[in-house]
Amino acid sequence: MDLPQKFGKYTLLRRLATGGMAEIFLARQQGMGGFEKEVVVKRLLPTHAQNEELVTMFLDEARIAANLTHPNIAQIFDLGRAGDDYFIAMEFVRGVDLRRLCAQGIAEDAFLPRHHAVRIVAEVCDALAYAHAKTDEEGRPMHIVHRDVSPTNVLITYEGGVKLVDFGIAKASNKANVTKAGQIKGKFGYMAPEQALGGHLDHRTDLFAVGINLYEITVGRRLFKADNEVETLEAIEQARVVPPREVDPDYPEALERIVLKALARDPDARYQSARDLQMALEEYLAGAGMRSTAGMLAEYVRSLFAEQIELEAEESARLREEAKALEDEGQGPAEAAEAPAAAPPRPRPPLRRPSPRRRPPRPWRSPRRRWRPRRRPSSIPGPR
Ligand SMILES: Nc1ncnc2c1ncn2[C@@H]1O[C@H](COP(=O)(O)OP(=O)(O)OP(=O)(O)O)[C@@H](O)[C@H]1O
Ligand SMILES: [Mg+2]
Repeated sequence: MDLPQKFGKYTLLRRLATGGMAEIFLARQQGMGGFEKEVVVKRLLPTHAQNEELVTMFLDEARIAANLTHPNIAQIFDLGRAGDDYFIAMEFVRGVDLRRLCAQGIAEDAFLPRHHAVRIVAEVCDALAYAHAKTDEEGRPMHIVHRDVSPTNVLITYEGGVKLVDFGIAKASNKANVTKAGQIKGKFGYMAPEQALGGHLDHRTDLFAVGINLYEITVGRRLFKADNEVETLEAIEQARVVPPREVDPDYPEALERIVLKALARDPDARYQSARDLQMALEEYLAGAGMRSTAGMLAEYVRSLFAEQIELEAEESARLREEAKALEDEGQGPAEAAEAPAAAPPRPRPPLRRPSPRRRPPRPWRSPRRRWRPRRRPSSIPGPR
């Protein structure tokens, strides 16, 4: 696909990612009087556009999520259809997801410091506490459950902010991942036992997922990733957790208690609200005399991604010029609304990915294949 390309009232600039359900683009929205804004367009893959049930689910969930306004939640701006494509437009979060942050931390031998890890999770809890408590206009609870609190859905901005993305979209995503034979495929490592067993989900399902994230980014290894999906599911169904202090005897006892409570198999034995879990994490930080601010986290993120940030800024300036030229060609965004894919292709050089300074980032491996005790960052200042 050639980019930039018109898409409804947006101009798609660059593909950020392709998942099982949708493609994610960095896009530009133009309006009156020189108004312009960078957004992310999540476009349902054309192969799913015929599936009415899935399209309805995708749009219904996005409609619900569009009501969420919170500093730790990426805002949804728009959703609908452009030509034959269904899409969601949301806030562009300039930063990296938690998975990449951890992978780069491993590659640079400077794994995410624990005080930042705990604060990131506390902020995710803040977002969840807000969403779980959300009521409709008549004051009735909306029972919003995220369903996929995983490291690719937690974004860390270059300013040290934390944003949760993809509220409720997992529902449609799971649907998209059911093959014709009825088998589920996709990512299992962040499900709660009741989710893996196809049981009843509620807000405590998200808290188990938060527990998995907390475990992984404070212990420094994957929790439920086995050699194959069947084993992964089994481990989740039984909530088989190796206690953090068995992996790392120096792991703080107080933090271990929080992690294990969040990861209780029985929802009744977990924290009963995201707010309770958030409070426990904040009390832990205070009790341990640890402090993590947005500025400190930003400094850490920038130290790992300096080259990428620079390249993205250059790329962004270039894409803006190309998009402007395309928009000036007489096919304003409004005109293209009915036929978004008809814009002529424009050649452009591919984005040069930044090469890591020391070693290439390695994917976060299964603990069975690659067991690594958590490496303490030697170059990162701050309390441990
Ligand atoms: N609003 C956003 N701003 C910036 N980057 C984003 C945004 N949303 C997603 N991304 C990036 O795109 C990547 C892929 O997102 P996508 O949601 O398609 O896949 P995923 O999170 O791996 O899977 P899932 O479909 O289960 O959410 C994310 O990991 C993130 O790095
Ligand atoms: Mg996602």
